[in-house]
Amino acid sequence: MKKRIFHCLLTATFLILAPAAFAQRAPVRERLSMNADWRFKRDDPPGSEGVLSYERIKDWVTATGNEFTGSKSKRVRPAGNLGEQVSYAQRTFDDRDWRQLNLPHDWGIEGPFKQEYPGETGKLPWWGVGWYRKHFTASSKDKGKQFYLDIDGAMAYATVWLNGKLVGGWPYGYASFELDLTPYIDFGADNVLAIRLDNPPDSSRWYPGGGIYRNVWLVKTSPVHVGHWGTYVTTPEVGQAAAKVNLKVSLDNNSATSASAVVRTQVYELLNGQKTGKPIAFSDPTTLTIAAGASEATTLTMSVNKPKIWSLQKPNLYAAVTTVEQNRRIIDAQETVFGIRTIKFDIDKGFFLNGEHVRLNGVCDHHDLGALGAAINWRALERQIEILKEMGVSAIRTSHNPPAPELLDLCDRMGIVVMDEAFDAWRRGKKKNDYHLLFDDWHEKDLRAQVRRDRNHPSIILWSIGNEIGEQGNAEGHKLAAELRDIVHEEDLTRPVTAGANNLNAGYNGFQKTVDVFGYNYKPTEYGKFRQANPTIPLFASETSSAVSSRGEYYFPVSDDKSQGRADFQVSSYDLYAPRWAWPPDVEFKGLDEFPFTAGEFVWTGFDYLGEPTPYGGDSTTLLNFTNPAEQARMAQEIKELAKIRVPSRSSYFGIIDLAGFKKDRFYIYQARWRPELPMAHILPHWNWPERAGQVTPVHVYTSGDEAELFLNGRSLGRKKKEQYQYRLRWDDVKYEPGELRVVAYKNGKQWAEDVMKTTGPASKLTMKADRPTIRADGQDLTFVTVTIADKNGLLVPRSKNRIRFELAGPGEIVGVDNGDATSFESFQSKARNAYNGLCMVIVRAKAGQAGAIKLKAQSDGLAGAEIVIGSK
Ligand code: GAL
Repeated sequence: MKKRIFHCLLTATFLILAPAAFAQRAPVRERLSMNADWRFKRDDPPGSEGVLSYERIKDWVTATGNEFTGSKSKRVRPAGNLGEQVSYAQRTFDDRDWRQLNLPHDWGIEGPFKQEYPGETGKLPWWGVGWYRKHFTASSKDKGKQFYLDIDGAMAYATVWLNGKLVGGWPYGYASFELDLTPYIDFGADNVLAIRLDNPPDSSRWYPGGGIYRNVWLVKTSPVHVGHWGTYVTTPEVGQAAAKVNLKVSLDNNSATSASAVVRTQVYELLNGQKTGKPIAFSDPTTLTIAAGASEATTLTMSVNKPKIWSLQKPNLYAAVTTVEQNRRIIDAQETVFGIRTIKFDIDKGFFLNGEHVRLNGVCDHHDLGALGAAINWRALERQIEILKEMGVSAIRTSHNPPAPELLDLCDRMGIVVMDEAFDAWRRGKKKNDYHLLFDDWHEKDLRAQVRRDRNHPSIILWSIGNEIGEQGNAEGHKLAAELRDIVHEEDLTRPVTAGANNLNAGYNGFQKTVDVFGYNYKPTEYGKFRQANPTIPLFASETSSAVSSRGEYYFPVSDDKSQGRADFQVSSYDLYAPRWAWPPDVEFKGLDEFPFTAGEFVWTGFDYLGEPTPYGGDSTTLLNFTNPAEQARMAQEIKELAKIRVPSRSSYFGIIDLAGFKKDRFYIYQARWRPELPMAHILPHWNWPERAGQVTPVHVYTSGDEAELFLNGRSLGRKKKEQYQYRLRWDDVKYEPGELRVVAYKNGKQWAEDVMKTTGPASKLTMKADRPTIRADGQDLTFVTVTIADKNGLLVPRSKNRIRFELAGPGEIVGVDNGDATSFESFQSKARNAYNGLCMVIVRAKAGQAGAIKLKAQSDGLAGAEIVIGSK
């Protein structure tokens, strides 16, 4: 008999069977998806409003985090039940007329957009109270087992009841947490989970989403078992011949008597997420004796011969399978995925992975997935990372909160390093109801929980304790920073602790000494001075650029003044424009090239996100970015002026890639720098300017070459060479005439790459392309279909905004439409959409268990329509 782990993503069920030697077939641990078939309703039942407000229930909920605090901070849960008087929490409540849905779910993304809602959080209704209920049967065969509910993330202030009894809760909406259901389960009967979320308004600087927006799991174990996040792998010695692997495992004993158990671990190679072959390393067995109700830990050691190293090019992974035995019977097993690699931040040279210098070519991203909102979807995230990798991204910063666990799994598999961030605020808030209200009670629990959850991921190279924290400037902040750093160090000493500092003084006032590696936000001219003052602190650019642009928009005359380039609530795409604290990409590149000890940068942002539509809003950030009172006052005035206008913007302009996932021009200035070995050239703007005949229409070129020659209708407009600290080639005096622009790029004197931009004919047809022609019929998998407004030759027609209608037949559904226009209030769930500058995106999901052909048709008045077939298997 073979040991097997059934593993499929998202809707997954994980069953671990005992290994062969133990002649036993029963699953020893189950992890079952609890995403299907929930009932949902907004608001509290009439008459119960406020009864369950956090202030009233806090003492019950805070005790949930006891596992993550020292004994002094543990809370005793008050006696009695809570919520008995609230009907929705009760076991017998009849929820049959509630809306039925599957998780992950984000109630905010369903809209509608409203002008009066804050643009800073996307003009969508994500706040308020929501209830989820789910019925499930616990088999009487499972009597004696432990039952846990694992919630990867619920926005926010979750409180959970089982069969009318309060189980516990967790307020931070970005945290993952586990609740022990065992005391409340009824075996052989219908069990009812009720979850109340209470998402405070005015609690975020971006769109947070609302609802149980990540995956939920039911975990069943025997009473003696590996604890929650109970394995921790480190690789203290890595050589070509062998790597030492330490696995610390903690066992919980939930039985009524003391117990002894033997733990051991075997290591397998992983290929595409599956274990392959026989185990390649073994630990010795170790016996642990655990008192009733207690936990004990031990460290198992192993050696992996000729280790396959985890790197960006070859992200090799291993799985450690830890088993727990009693009387030669396996009673629990846990699989831990890990990688073998070394990291180092060097004072003079920056970041090293496996002894090789790797520049952090990073982006910051928020968690929303555009039209899909905050609801996590494996494929949507994977697609984002594919697009980022095409640009040359080597690093992602999870701004400004712990990410979905799937993001880390994907980065492990796809070869991306990660800066895993905890908080956007400590004791000083940025918004009336943000994390500062939770900080004192929860920061230790949230931070320990995050590190314990994430510390086995080889992708993680930095723990960030905060972004642009209000306390950077004072002694209180330095004390807090040191406390947070020490918490992280207690949980993991294998990666440095950092923070993103926007306050220039934080590099000199002592804050810089509280972290292991210092991160500056938006300070490309300051790296040299920082190094002089701090010769022993490694440095990187934790947040850079914040350039703004709208895909396919260009305004004239082109100005190099970064505050210009705005019209119609859009921003010109010449990539010269940025808010006052921010910079065009070129300025940041120069800073990094002048001071190459800086380990690299994290650009704000990879993808556009919902909310924070700076320069047309995003108010709290705008003010926060100024420490100088005069500048703050000036900005406050600008914000006031803006408030008088009905700004329609609901999503950001910062993205290198727009909200629908379409590349802006900026994509290519980063690709040119980050993938110097890739022959490429990119011309901007488009060449459809009938109203500009004879007028100056500058042409800029991004190329990985070092020289280029531009031709207009076959005439050379000159060959230009990049000077030191030049990252684009500019022909600023080109007079427009229709026809063809062609650029020929050179590298080291040799022809290297070409790009062509042609004036197009009028729109005549639609074309469609799916990012994947076949998807899995699992109710989760997606295909992203790009619809283009094309002329008769198939060229994208710039500035076209035609309305497109969609029809779908077969076993799929349209789950989102978007066009990347930051000012669009059209519903993401619609079956029609205006194109924005020639493009529109349709997201199609396969129905679970229904294979077949999904036919998608697109039509637009006056244009030839298009149709494609997507396979679902
Ligand atoms: C930064 C902040 C980010 C975002 C950005 C916009 O200061 O850390 O969250 O607001 O500004 O430029």
